[in-house]
Amino acid sequence: MEIKDCYNLIKNKFIAKNIDESDAYALFDYFYGKDFIVANHVLNKKEINKLLRIANKRIKTHEPIFSIINFSPFYGRFFKTNKHVLKPRLDTEILLNEALKLSNNKTKILDLCCGSGILGITLNLEKLCKVLCADISNFALAITRKNAKALGANISAIKSDMFKNIQDKFDIIVANPPYIKTNDIESLDSEVKNFDPKLALDGGDDGLKFYKIIASEFEKYLSKDGTLLLEIGFNQKNELLEIFSEFDVKVIKDFNNLDRVLIVKIKE
Ligand SMILES: C[S@@+](CC[C@H](N)C(=O)[O-])C[C@H]1O[C@@H](n2cnc3c(N)ncnc32)[C@H](O)[C@@H]1O
Repeated sequence: MEIKDCYNLIKNKFIAKNIDESDAYALFDYFYGKDFIVANHVLNKKEINKLLRIANKRIKTHEPIFSIINFSPFYGRFFKTNKHVLKPRLDTEILLNEALKLSNNKTKILDLCCGSGILGITLNLEKLCKVLCADISNFALAITRKNAKALGANISAIKSDMFKNIQDKFDIIVANPPYIKTNDIESLDSEVKNFDPKLALDGGDDGLKFYKIIASEFEKYLSKDGTLLLEIGFNQKNELLEIFSEFDVKVIKDFNNLDRVLIVKIKE
């Protein structure tokens, strides 16, 4: 069977079950690259069976496609992910793009709450930034190190409860901390609730626990003229402007025109 025919077969199976067709695209992108649709590749029986097995699992169990293949795309690369780390979200590329604009090969970056390491690793690969990734989870750190090795990034990764084990100063601090209210987690879509770790989601009673820690401590870890970049929940802007009221703050919107990133500078 030609690759595009198999793709159309799986895409149509997904559409019939109300699963977004982008899942079919992601599946073929992962195994055969972005140009799969124009590739002259004829799939053998083994390949077709493997693809169909994954597609059927997606349909039967509602497990997200990236949980099934254990890899997730971010900024054009596939990162290893598993049940212990958040599956990267497209919106996080907004934060990445802002950090890329401010970075060069001398920039020292702290990727706090690094998860699978998508932000720090991408900044190192794209701009040769000097990156320290930090997370409280040993599982996340193991995945970050694996991703760095597999993708050829040169970063360091340490275990740290927020800033507790951080000693240096950085030109840029990026963080996508957990920001869902504890009581809201149960009502999240089951594909998030059941397949992303609670540790990566739970932002405490008001969802703001980690932002408050960051606001009270980040100055000690930022170089002069440095920048803090934070991903935020789409409805958290006003509370966060209050929490960061003593700093200069700019808010950036995401692809859906929702507030998504805070760019924070210390006032002169
Ligand atoms: C929303 S995920 C973000 C992961 C990744 N940066 C991304 O954007 O996909 C939040 C991460 O914060 C980590 N985390 C939770 N509590 C933490 C703490 N007290 N100190 C450091 N990291 C923490 C979780 O383990 C998780 O990897």
